[in-house]
Amino acid sequence: MNYTVVLPAAGSGKRMGAAYNKLFLKLNGKPILAHTLEVFQLDPWCEEIVLAINEQERQDIEKLITQYQLTKVTKLVQGGDERQHSVYAALQAASGAEIVLVHDAARPFILQETIHALVEKATASGGAIAAVKAKDTMKRVVDGQVQETIDRETLWSVQTPQAFQYELLMKAARQADEQGFLGTDEGMLAERAGIPVYVVESSYDNQKMTTPEDLVLGEGILRRREE
Ligand code: C5P
Repeated sequence: MNYTVVLPAAGSGKRMGAAYNKLFLKLNGKPILAHTLEVFQLDPWCEEIVLAINEQERQDIEKLITQYQLTKVTKLVQGGDERQHSVYAALQAASGAEIVLVHDAARPFILQETIHALVEKATASGGAIAAVKAKDTMKRVVDGQVQETIDRETLWSVQTPQAFQYELLMKAARQADEQGFLGTDEGMLAERAGIPVYVVESSYDNQKMTTPEDLVLGEGILRRREE
């Protein structure tokens, strides 16, 4: 079952406290971006990788692609001001795909088994998003005051990848773009467009490298996997 993956990689290092794109920060001596791309390079189901990048980083990214022999990366497109804009630009460049996965380049620990489960579910049903069950007790709070405790059994923390039949996601993304709607994930755009979206249970390891503590966690995950 083949798919194309779209990776937004056009962020900055703001929350990481880095002076440059956090995806160039290293885990075990290898840039986060290379870790993530290798997962897809090594997945036999992955046909093509489309990257949304900051134009001024093009040369560095091309160098990284050559160094790590990431031959499946076929297109580097210019990202936008918001993640959703970067994804939309990359999706347009992925035309011709039947199943498309959107995955944050900042999540290097995604497992191949999760990717395959997502592709199978999206093929059968429209859309599927990686998620984990909420671990903590969750409460709705307004102005510091608890309003209610939400039944945890129904709550999931959502990650990427998010997999869709390409035409369905394009329809949802186009609609959001025309209406100037900004969502926090592709699932949200699909839900608004009436596309069925299912969850696939993922791993708690599939963390997004966002703040400096995440790098410590990331090194720990790599150490455990090498044992
Ligand atoms: O900032 P955050 O980690 O939440 O971003 C998630 C992913 O989206 C990252 O891989 C980042 O590079 C990417 N991104 C992007 N374009 C933006 C903002 C973020 O491609 N304008």
